[in-house]
Amino acid sequence: MNVVILAAGKGKRMHSDLPKVLHPLAGRPLLAHVLATARALSPERVVVVYGHGGEAVREAIGGDGAAWVRQEPQLGTGHALAQALPHLDATVPTLVLYGDVPLTRAETLRRLAAAAAGGVAVLTVELADPTGYGRIVREGGEPKRIVEEKDASPAERAIREVNTGIMVLPTARLAGWLGRLSNENAQGEYYLTDVVAMAVAEGVPVRAAQPAAAWETLGVNSKAQLAELERVHQRSLADELLERGVTLADPARLDIRGTLAAGRDVAIDVSCVFEGAVELGDRVSVGAHSVLRNVRIAAGTRIEPFCHIEDADIGPACHIGPYARIRPGTRLGEDVHIGNFVEVKASTFGARSKANHLAYVGDTAVGRDVNVGAGTITCNYDGAAKHRTVIEDEVFIGSDTQLVAPVTVGRGATIAAGTTVWKDVPPGTLALNEKTQVEKADYVRPRKPVKR
Ligand code: UD1
Ligand code: CA
Repeated sequence: MNVVILAAGKGKRMHSDLPKVLHPLAGRPLLAHVLATARALSPERVVVVYGHGGEAVREAIGGDGAAWVRQEPQLGTGHALAQALPHLDATVPTLVLYGDVPLTRAETLRRLAAAAAGGVAVLTVELADPTGYGRIVREGGEPKRIVEEKDASPAERAIREVNTGIMVLPTARLAGWLGRLSNENAQGEYYLTDVVAMAVAEGVPVRAAQPAAAWETLGVNSKAQLAELERVHQRSLADELLERGVTLADPARLDIRGTLAAGRDVAIDVSCVFEGAVELGDRVSVGAHSVLRNVRIAAGTRIEPFCHIEDADIGPACHIGPYARIRPGTRLGEDVHIGNFVEVKASTFGARSKANHLAYVGDTAVGRDVNVGAGTITCNYDGAAKHRTVIEDEVFIGSDTQLVAPVTVGRGATIAAGTTVWKDVPPGTLALNEKTQVEKADYVRPRKPVKR
């Protein structure tokens, strides 16, 4: 089939400078969701009709193999589809989608296409409150025409079956039908919905099909609707995880903005956010309020609450956090401990190495079995360039050490607490700065006046 995505309309009610179809749902633009659904149908052609928001829309989404057609001015849904006509394969049906209806399932669209069977099929839903929608007027059980709310009689307005806007049409007939649309109606627009009556007049069968869930057809016109659909979508992502055996402390308090792959016996506590591509190995647990972006976490690793991990590769059986920040370019080996208030950037840690408290490790290669004491800082930046630090296997770094990069601490070396390491430390040695401690016996500590 051909898929035409109508996305030229404006989104006045979003009260935003960002074009409506670029507002993110689960971290991706609404239009990207619709394009992904279109792709799932392996269509012959995909055409995006854009207009409001201009080139920004096209640039944000990228080429993606679709034909992009600009509709200017926007004279209605029928006029919008007419702009796509030159790009369609006339030998296959055309599916019309809306760029602001992001959650329609491919399965539902396949059923709609099957219902069309060479004729017209309209995706419809029954709404308790149909206000604002086009109504499906049936005669003898089959849809005969669609009447827009603003053009409808009181009796027609009482109809609760509405047009979702999603329909399948016989492409070869479109040029004729769209060419004959008139804009003599309440809104002065060329209504795509008028092709239904034309089809009926020509004896082309018109069918209606319904989605499995009503939310599949919900559009986004306001921030409130966007937030509502975000929750619907997140809940269905959470349900998929539960289905696959992931333990979720609360499926309503989880946000996935990308893909989350999880092994067996993975547990995720409340309010975690997963962005980009995240992979959690078997038995990984993620503590509450953690944010993971493009990370791979190997089997058996425990992430304690309030961790922030980005573009990193975490080895097996590690223990991270609470309150750890792991930044891009970090790779941790097996059984590494990164504790509270430790920041690691563009660094590697070998097996069993630990930085348990209050440290900054940046641009550093840490060997295996290293202990990085509390308060240790790599001074990797000289104000102009970044420099690397090398800490070889089995090094012990005492608390409150500064490692002034570029610098290498040789294998098995010990750094005394409070040392500023400003030149390389040979393997097996103890490095310390000579400092003196002085005691003054006659010192009197200032005291606050005693209140009475
Ligand atoms: C349309 C349908 C209505 C249906 C409703 C479902 C028509 C005439 N009416 O009404 O029966 O119940 O959707 O939401 O089709 N668009 C363009 N170019 C235009 C106009 C619209 O690309 O010139 C796009 C919009 O970006 C949007 C979609 O078409 O994605 C629908 O436009 P909208 O203005 O929301 O249509 P409604 O009046 O709500
Ligand atoms: Ca609409």
